Amino acid sequence: MVVIEAGRTGLVLAVGDDGRLHQIGFGPGGVASPRPELPVALYPLAYPTFGEEVLREPALRVTHADGATSTRLRFVSASIADHDGGALHRIELVDRVAPLAVTLCYRTWPAYDLLEQWVEVTNGGHGDISVHRVAATAPALSGAAPHLTHWGGGWAGEWTETTERLTPGTKSVASAGAVRPSLHRPPIVLFAPAGPATEDAGSVGACSVAWGGDTRFDAEVALHGQVRLLAGHQGRGAERVLGPGDQFTSPSAYWAWSGAGIGPTSRALHRFAREQVVRDGTAIRATVVNTWEALFFALDPVGLLAQIDGAADVGGELFLLDDGWFGTTHPRNDDTTGLGDWEVDRRKLPDGLQPLIDHTLERGLRFGLWVEPEMVSPDSALYAAHPDWVIAEPGRDRREERNQLVLDLCRRDVRGFVVDVIDRVLAAHPGITYLKWDANRDLTEPGTTTLASDRQSHLAVDRVRATWKVMEAVASNHPDVELMLCASGGGRSDLGTLRWFHELWTSDNTDPVARVRIQWGASHLLPASVLAAHVTRWGDRPFAFAAAVAMSGRFGFDVDLRTLTDDERATARAAAAAYHEIRDLVQQGDLHRLVSPVGSDRTALAYVAPGGERAVVFAYRLPADAGGVGDGAGGMAADTPIDLPWLEAEARYVIRNITPAPSAADATEPFELTGTTLDWPIGEAPVATVQVLTRR
Ligand code: GLA
Repeated sequence: MVVIEAGRTGLVLAVGDDGRLHQIGFGPGGVASPRPELPVALYPLAYPTFGEEVLREPALRVTHADGATSTRLRFVSASIADHDGGALHRIELVDRVAPLAVTLCYRTWPAYDLLEQWVEVTNGGHGDISVHRVAATAPALSGAAPHLTHWGGGWAGEWTETTERLTPGTKSVASAGAVRPSLHRPPIVLFAPAGPATEDAGSVGACSVAWGGDTRFDAEVALHGQVRLLAGHQGRGAERVLGPGDQFTSPSAYWAWSGAGIGPTSRALHRFAREQVVRDGTAIRATVVNTWEALFFALDPVGLLAQIDGAADVGGELFLLDDGWFGTTHPRNDDTTGLGDWEVDRRKLPDGLQPLIDHTLERGLRFGLWVEPEMVSPDSALYAAHPDWVIAEPGRDRREERNQLVLDLCRRDVRGFVVDVIDRVLAAHPGITYLKWDANRDLTEPGTTTLASDRQSHLAVDRVRATWKVMEAVASNHPDVELMLCASGGGRSDLGTLRWFHELWTSDNTDPVARVRIQWGASHLLPASVLAAHVTRWGDRPFAFAAAVAMSGRFGFDVDLRTLTDDERATARAAAAAYHEIRDLVQQGDLHRLVSPVGSDRTALAYVAPGGERAVVFAYRLPADAGGVGDGAGGMAADTPIDLPWLEAEARYVIRNITPAPSAADATEPFELTGTTLDWPIGEAPVATVQVLTRR
């Protein structure tokens, strides 16, 4: 019997008489009754292989050297070692005939109630084998009313939520495009066995795959309500040939179970992300003022200096120069040219970047710069010199997306070039302490000169690992430079890639009404400290509303500061000042999602300090025509107040309204809360309130 305890999340495995490994229990009460009540053989297999449960989806599918396609794994041994306050369990299995070794690896993170799982497959024979699919995790689940929640949507539509009842058959939720997969489907699902869980009630498991390429979740409902959830990297198009002695290690999947609703799973993932994944994840993040939505490609020194002054004036702490600053022979005046030519365009900026950087530092801000280092424009000096450096398949047209091609980072020389470019840009411009690292297209015609013709499908995995190598080199060469992860918005929202980054660009969609829902979705995986949220003009919403939405994430501005009215400028200052007061709560506190914006015309969320003595509550009323009004809280009576579940009934709380507004005259005096609810903001939607609660 193997008992794997990761705080609230537990797993019990046992070996049957015939040597197969079975799963006795999994979930919030997974380790409660480790003694099997039935013969072990009657429990589902712990890791089903092709040919075993012939009616079910396999977690592992291999073609052996002799051509056989079925695999039957027998238990060999189990070991346990200490690891980071938890344990690392390794369970060795081997095929009954072929020299195929499979190790199921489980790492517990009890401080976070998380269970991490990955699988190692080793070819111990003398011939090649093909590995078609290796799920990182494949637990059997059950439930009277199994529901799956997943997200997706594409560019500007990230994190659109779907919750559905699982019916017999297989529901697959898979990302595609390889480079910015989470744009389409972020790598997390929620499984609720007995009907949709709420924020604070119901059993639910969150499963996330920490992978920077395509991922795949298969939720299969078989007869008698037996469910299995397979999760891992997308195996389709990613078959691997393992030569003698070769090993393949799957990406990791993380499980967080809760018997008390979805909230605890998110808070566990947030704390884990901050403390174990994200770089400097427990540090406070700066307020960024970006140029993209403000100026696009129209950069000039006078305009930029005005933005920098404007940034200092409204309380910005970091000035970020986005796309458009580079390209010498092929100036970057739009998205058709210049990627790859990372030298300042002296036509636009005759004195280069240094005067801008120096001015930014003099004004007391830090300076950041946009790069898209994995890409090349066909219309660039780099491409003219190295047309063979791109991902392509011989004899096939290369598709362009956003007029660009993907550099082949599997090539050592290309990796060297990219790392070197970043070294050079940073060395040439002292004072840059932040880079926004973008990637703006999908992968098509996935071919590489680094792999033999019968190994091209390895690119799917190898390209992710090569990209991570480059990111790791940049992070280690420049430990003091913060990195923002971006891929056309939130195209890389995974716990694997985030290891090299400090934060990410949540979505290009900055319409605050849409952003409320996007940030809500993203909060199921990621802490607000990494979810960049900037005030822009998108959607033409009231400025104060845009500011109140941005304040619920990692705050910033992306608006032409020269165009602010006096009221807007005052509101911007008030928002930044208020945010700086509460950002420890937003970025490091515990998130309580209070009222869902999905299918609703209002939403509320709070960030609470450990112990509950301070909290900030954000409440938004959304225009009814903005989409999403349906059968959710939209049916809630307008006077139903917002319930604050963490408040102690006996305690007294002082409330201060910090909703951004142009003048202090709009601010109300602090007042004392009676009861444990708050009222919705009043006014024409969209309208927000932001309130700080302090225990007396
Ligand atoms: C992508 C990013 C944007 C911006 C542009 C620049 O779309 O998501 O934030 O940086 O590229 O071209």
